Amino acid sequence: MASIPCFIANWKMNKTVTETASYLSDFIGKYAELSDHPPQVIIAPSFTSLSIMANTLKEQGSKIALAAQNLHFEPSGAFTGEISAEMLCAAGCDYVIIGHSERRNLFGETDEMVHRKLLSARKAGLIPIICIGESLKDRHTEKTWPRLQGQLSAVLTDDIIKSGLAENISDWLIAYEPVWAIGTGETPEPDEVADVHRQIQGFIENTAGKGSPRILYGGSVSEKNIETFMKPPEIGGVLVGGASLSAETFFKMIALATNGT
Ligand code: PGA
Repeated sequence: MASIPCFIANWKMNKTVTETASYLSDFIGKYAELSDHPPQVIIAPSFTSLSIMANTLKEQGSKIALAAQNLHFEPSGAFTGEISAEMLCAAGCDYVIIGHSERRNLFGETDEMVHRKLLSARKAGLIPIICIGESLKDRHTEKTWPRLQGQLSAVLTDDIIKSGLAENISDWLIAYEPVWAIGTGETPEPDEVADVHRQIQGFIENTAGKGSPRILYGGSVSEKNIETFMKPPEIGGVLVGGASLSAETFFKMIALATNGT
């Protein structure tokens, strides 16, 4: 697994266009000063902030990448309120988050819908950030791996693998996010996460046969625990929700995780 970690900020339903501009005015400069080989940083703002963020990153020649938090699986049509993969590409997105547990649990997204979203994203050339995670009940009944394996096998199917849409799978990102750890302040031990990541990696390598995506951890990552999560080599980075909303805190986390280099 690559040694320079990846950091994703998932802003969820937070920040107006003005607030986005103010965050970037602080963050882009700090990030540029980090090093000649800065870690990969991806920010996922709300849909309304995608364009301003794409334009600002381009104007300033920043290496920070842009992700959307969701997409619809159809390419166009009568789907009021939805956004297609092509629209995201045109708005300047490189990545898209697919299957976040809030989408699954609050908006009824099924594994089948997550699979169709992956297909649509890949056809448009977007790089997926696929979220998987077990519930507290799964954890207590020792069903963590069956749950994760089920989520992975539902999305990584033959129609994607055999049609060549997974050729760049080593660029994809998988975020392992235990549902019970998201926004709760509770986390698994980094060693437990490393074990799960090894299982995910083995499963994907066997299923797709095209190498492995980078596997990130997400769920209550903060300034206090980021260094411990960066220790196991199996953890290729983090997906940060709440703690990424402050430019200062998110930058501090990146600096801590990369020892300020
Ligand atoms: P959190 O969210 O860092 O606020 O727990 C992570 C996520 O939902 O992606």
